[in-house]
Amino acid sequence: MSAKIYYDTDADLGLLSGKTIVFLGFGNQGAAQAQNLRDSGIPNDKILIANREDAYAEDAKSKGFTVEHDFAKAASVADVLFLLIPDQVQQRVYNGQVAPTLKANATIVVASGYNVFYQLLEFKPTQDVVMVAPRMIGSSVRSLYEKGKGFPCFVSVEQDGTGSGLATALALSKAIGATKAGAIASSVREETAMDLFAEQALWPHIIMLFREAFSVLKEAGCSDEALCYEMWMSKEPAEIFERAAEEGFIKQLKHHSSVSQFGQLSGALALDGKDAREHFKNILYNQVLNGKFCKEFSKIEADLEKEGAENPLNELYRKSEESELGQAEKRVRQRLAGLL
Ligand code: NAI
Repeated sequence: MSAKIYYDTDADLGLLSGKTIVFLGFGNQGAAQAQNLRDSGIPNDKILIANREDAYAEDAKSKGFTVEHDFAKAASVADVLFLLIPDQVQQRVYNGQVAPTLKANATIVVASGYNVFYQLLEFKPTQDVVMVAPRMIGSSVRSLYEKGKGFPCFVSVEQDGTGSGLATALALSKAIGATKAGAIASSVREETAMDLFAEQALWPHIIMLFREAFSVLKEAGCSDEALCYEMWMSKEPAEIFERAAEEGFIKQLKHHSSVSQFGQLSGALALDGKDAREHFKNILYNQVLNGKFCKEFSKIEADLEKEGAENPLNELYRKSEESELGQAEKRVRQRLAGLL
């Protein structure tokens, strides 16, 4: 299955002429996208930053943007609303303070599929709901734009209330610099499935494999220092992934010794992956796509603001750091800092 890829030539910035564009949030993505959009020729007086009174608002002001703290007021003038506050607060803030005053023909832009896929946001059927989701951290969205380069991005139309949702989504993608390298046609389902799958299936396995490998090698007499450097502190894994992105997931192995290439390729082929595949399917269908995780996460979401052991995330960190790997790394880092 190959996806359509949209480039600058597929998009018409003229469609944004005269429109008021509101950025709800001036954080990682908001700051980068708003500046890119302005540098693409959208007049500053057509851009409004809706932000609570905090350091992000001050940052927006210092960069010459007009800032509105009253979200309902900002929403009432928006032809386009970029929803760029953290995913876990979008439902409460958008439904409570933005949706009631948002125009019936406004375009709502999300940068992640989560809240739209799980139907947590209340839209009017006449509104456009589009996803323009950079696959890149905010600082790189900005720095790549400044260098005249693009960045990978997913784009989709989830609700086409006005009938011109795609054209608007592409114009906005071009304005933030996302069609320069090609914006890949996707959907909130696909984006959410891949994102949450990576977070809940793939990376937990990788963390577990490192944790168990560490214990086995430690038991065999390897030192904490040698293990930490061998396994990640040398940054070799980061380099391998960089080569994989540039040259090929398998082809990058050519940079390793013959012993290494033979070991890795024959070892991976000898693992049939059946158990992992079953586990992965279970996570994908019975935890991610059926909304189970979303429901459970929404129950603990408010606790994430709490301090200490009452915050479930702090507890997960504490338990994870208890592993041999976690404890050894702590000692090694203290030693390197001259504290031990
Ligand atoms: P962020 O964490 O940088 O957001 C900070 C902004 O949200 C600030 O303007 C802050 O004032 C506002 N904010 C925070 N809590 C708030 C609250 N309770 N009420 C009102 N405003 C609040 O957010 P980030 O990382 O830019 O994410 C925004 C969207 O972009 C999300 O949907 C995220 O999934 C998506 N995204 C983020 C990427 C990243 O690099 N962080 C990459 C691609 C997509």
